[in-house]
Amino acid sequence: MNDNIIEITGVTKRYRLGKDNYVNALRGADLTVARGEMVALMGPSGSGKSTLMHIAGCLDRADSGEVRLGGRRVDTLRGRELVSVRGREVGFIFQGFNLIPTMTAVENVALAAEYAGVSKRDAIRRATGLLELVGLGDRMRHTPTELSGGQQQRVAIARALVNGPGIVMGDEPTGDLDTATSEEIVGVMRDINTDQGTTFVLVTHNPEVAEACDRTINMRDGVVVDDGMALFTEYRSA
Ligand SMILES: Nc1ncnc2c1ncn2[C@@H]1O[C@H](COP(=O)(O)OP(=O)(O)OP(=O)(O)O)[C@@H](O)[C@H]1O
Ligand SMILES: [Mg+2]
Repeated sequence: MNDNIIEITGVTKRYRLGKDNYVNALRGADLTVARGEMVALMGPSGSGKSTLMHIAGCLDRADSGEVRLGGRRVDTLRGRELVSVRGREVGFIFQGFNLIPTMTAVENVALAAEYAGVSKRDAIRRATGLLELVGLGDRMRHTPTELSGGQQQRVAIARALVNGPGIVMGDEPTGDLDTATSEEIVGVMRDINTDQGTTFVLVTHNPEVAEACDRTINMRDGVVVDDGMALFTEYRSA
């Protein structure tokens, strides 16, 4: 069995802006990520990073091409099946944290488990354990406004992990954080990657975030122009 958790080949996606007016967001993008890798996805604004991440994470569908998660074709799935794969296999972290302002840290994390069908009691237990893991054991009952940006992003990381996904995808997860906090957050993700083997795909403009990853995948004009593999192979064989 090959151990690529993400395998994307020849994916295209275009958005319709109006009559006879399209944007080709992806023009045949290929991407392979091994289980347990932590990779950075970089490239100019508009190059298709978020679109590719959304398709890899089953948040959006490709127009053509193949997408496999854990060896299983997912580009052919629709509706409830797609939602179910996304819920089980993928966790997401966003730039703006996207926490529910009226809920405490532990409630925010537990809710994502409850959505996946976990009982309230088990959801709270899982959420508590994960908040301790990300260093927020003493902030469980705080609401987002009572937490710093870095603390809010830690809650979002715990939430992304609550259903035990193989992959966590982050779209500019440190984009709203200062340099020191950004480093801290990448460190938290790195520890989880090392300790639990969770695969991370991080869309970023920040070279320091990319530096902390195993390799950098570069996009331009809707394709992957450099998958960083040459360097990775060199690094692995060193
Ligand atoms: N929902 C949409 N409707 C129409 N066009 C879109 C939509 N989403 C993305 N696009 C277009 O597709 C292209 C790729 O966008 P995408 O968001 O993937 O880029 P990106 O690399 O993530 O950029 P950034 O670094 O600015 O976040 C851009 O030209 C963008 O304008
Ligand atoms: Mg983007």
